[in-house]
Amino acid sequence: MFSYRHAFHAGNHADVLKHTILIATLQYMTQKEAALVALDTHAGAGLYRLDGDYATTSAEADEGIRRLEGAKDLCPLLQDYVDMVKAFNTSSTYKVYPGSPFIAQRLLGDRDKLKLFELHPTDCRSLSGNIAQLKAGRQIQVLLEDGFEGIKKFLPPPSRRAFLLCDPSYEMKTDYGRVIDMVADSLLRFPTGTYAVWYPIIPRQEAHDLPRRLKTLANKAGKSWLNAELTVKNSKITTAMRQGEEKRPGLPASGMFLINPPFTLKDQLKIALPQMAELMQQDSNAGYVLESGGK
Ligand SMILES: C[S@@+](CC[C@H](N)C(=O)[O-])C[C@H]1O[C@@H](n2cnc3c(N)ncnc32)[C@H](O)[C@@H]1O
Repeated sequence: MFSYRHAFHAGNHADVLKHTILIATLQYMTQKEAALVALDTHAGAGLYRLDGDYATTSAEADEGIRRLEGAKDLCPLLQDYVDMVKAFNTSSTYKVYPGSPFIAQRLLGDRDKLKLFELHPTDCRSLSGNIAQLKAGRQIQVLLEDGFEGIKKFLPPPSRRAFLLCDPSYEMKTDYGRVIDMVADSLLRFPTGTYAVWYPIIPRQEAHDLPRRLKTLANKAGKSWLNAELTVKNSKITTAMRQGEEKRPGLPASGMFLINPPFTLKDQLKIALPQMAELMQQDSNAGYVLESGGK
């Protein structure tokens, strides 16, 4: 079984990027009357403690959501993101961090459906328990299944409107290839769906190739795409000293690749990405990439 637990990473800079884009995309997609099916292939536990052992051990949120928590003059997209996290908290220092299932649930309407896949039995149990408290009934389904395979039964959706978030831990090298196969298959099943893939930017060939392969896939399918990357520090610094202890290396950068993105997203990110890079920078290598193409 995998050792990855998202609780160590909740609220880090990669979550800020991913969840900001998730919010913007679902805000746009839920404006229409027709029902939407939202698929989360790698859902995690749903809710995380920022003051719990996992989060305080890694301290990753300190360099993510904590940098935005009290920030002034945030752009509209980042303000929406902070307001979303705030809605799960009663104190000004946030103690709870919502994962993608809870963020999506807040944005969906009564007519919409949410399908959550989580393969880790412990996280799936936590997710089921957390979701049960929402008393959302049949609107939300939690599945202890492989998300790459499980989504197939929901595409195409009866309502002909779907959003998919694919957020693997990439703990296994094979995840990179499985992402490509899943997106290619989904585009055949349902060409007009909106597909969002999170990926780490690390010195590994498969990771380096992933956005390039997604671009090729989207271009060949004649679909529009958007790629947003956020770097917070130099990838060559692998260890850092923190209060006399060796700190785990931490992720330097990550990206979100969308196929059939909302047409409004690029302009929103033109403003949000520079602010994210500025607020969460850890050294002078911080920066961003925003590119689009296709169609
Ligand atoms: C990065 S975390 C998800 C975080 C979540 N999407 C969020 O934004 O809050 C990845 C999760 O995928 C789970 N996982 C790994 N392989 C899986 C698979 N093949 N299908 C479904 N879940 C999987 C892991 O147990 C982990 O909880």
